[in-house]
Amino acid sequence: MKRIGMLTSGGDCQALNAAMRGVVKTMAASEEEVEIYGFLDGYRGLIYGNYRMLTGKDFSGILTKGGTILGTSRTPFKTIKDPDENGLDKVEAMKHNYYKLNLDCLVILGGNGTHKTANLLREEGLNIVTLPKTIDNDLYGTDMTFGFQSAVDIATNCIDCIHTTAASHGRVFIVEVMGHKVGWLTLNAGMASGADIILIPEIPYDLDEIIAAIEKRKKNSHFTIIAVAEGAISVEDAKLSKKEYAKKLKDSPYPSVSYELAAKIQERTGQEVRVTVPGHTQRGGSPCPYDRVFASRLGSEAANLILQGEYGFMVGYKDREIVKVPLEDVAGKLKSVSPDARIVKEAKMLGICFGDGKAKAEDSDREKDKKSGKEKSDKDKSDKEKSSKDKSDKDKKEKNKKG
Ligand code: F6P
Repeated sequence: MKRIGMLTSGGDCQALNAAMRGVVKTMAASEEEVEIYGFLDGYRGLIYGNYRMLTGKDFSGILTKGGTILGTSRTPFKTIKDPDENGLDKVEAMKHNYYKLNLDCLVILGGNGTHKTANLLREEGLNIVTLPKTIDNDLYGTDMTFGFQSAVDIATNCIDCIHTTAASHGRVFIVEVMGHKVGWLTLNAGMASGADIILIPEIPYDLDEIIAAIEKRKKNSHFTIIAVAEGAISVEDAKLSKKEYAKKLKDSPYPSVSYELAAKIQERTGQEVRVTVPGHTQRGGSPCPYDRVFASRLGSEAANLILQGEYGFMVGYKDREIVKVPLEDVAGKLKSVSPDARIVKEAKMLGICFGDGKAKAEDSDREKDKKSGKEKSDKDKSDKEKSSKDKSDKDKKEKNKKG
């Protein structure tokens, strides 16, 4: 008999239900008897002992259902060791409820913050298995998180729709895509929808570059699509300390970085600029087929670990294989987009501007290469001409000698 606690924590995303269903179905198909305790609203349920006993029926028909049947909440790791407003020690409370229910393990579905707390609970001696969820795809130790592909689909559809109206009106459109810390979602949705400019937190942008890209586009078409991550940052702002930047954002008259950028572009280009924010729609609705399959596989592998009594792991995906990753290797690390990543280089080769000045630099490199290529071919030509002239002079001399 296995007694399993389960919770979903942090921002929700698509395929949380599919993943939990994967765990439960796999357990049910095994010889092992199982009891499932679902903690409600994330770690909050574990802290305050709010749970429901669940049966196979609860997990039936939820493969395609968005959100989470357990509910979720954000319980910041930063304050997890602080007592709550009534003086309750939250970590001790979680341990207490785990032991009170005599659980064999906890299955925790979450993103970065969730994994820090999960690792803390492991260090405290609890048996933990985690599953990687987040539309941001920024969890270390896994190439993919569930929720990401569904969110890419939604953000892409949004930019696709914007394309037609932007083209009709000849406007510059900014679509603000989710992702405060990393730009995976913006990069992928931007590339999938043919955005002209992509701005992500990992690559600070130079406004002059963006204006130049818009002006350059004007020669052939009169609209521009810019995919901007929530956390996109200018070169100047990137030089500020964390505290200074937080203050700047707090004092800003704009609701988000996109609106500030829009105002600046409109002022500099005189072109109409509009902002669209798909916001939480990116986390909502039914998971895409990829996420349904992916989350089911991860859930199934999590059940296998539990059946074998292997704990302290996140079930992740590396180099096209489902793998188990030690929690201590995951917690507290971020998987961000490297500015030198192949995908970024390829996007640049496709003509997408990242506002980092590199496009310009690469253009002039190309020019230089072209020029030196021309110089080289001129030299080759004259060398060839010289050698064929030398050869014919030599032939003539030979002929004269013979004659
Ligand atoms: O972590 C996922 C995420 O959707 C981010 O992309 C986004 O910035 C944030 O959550 C939004 O958080 P909340 O739902 O708390 O507003």
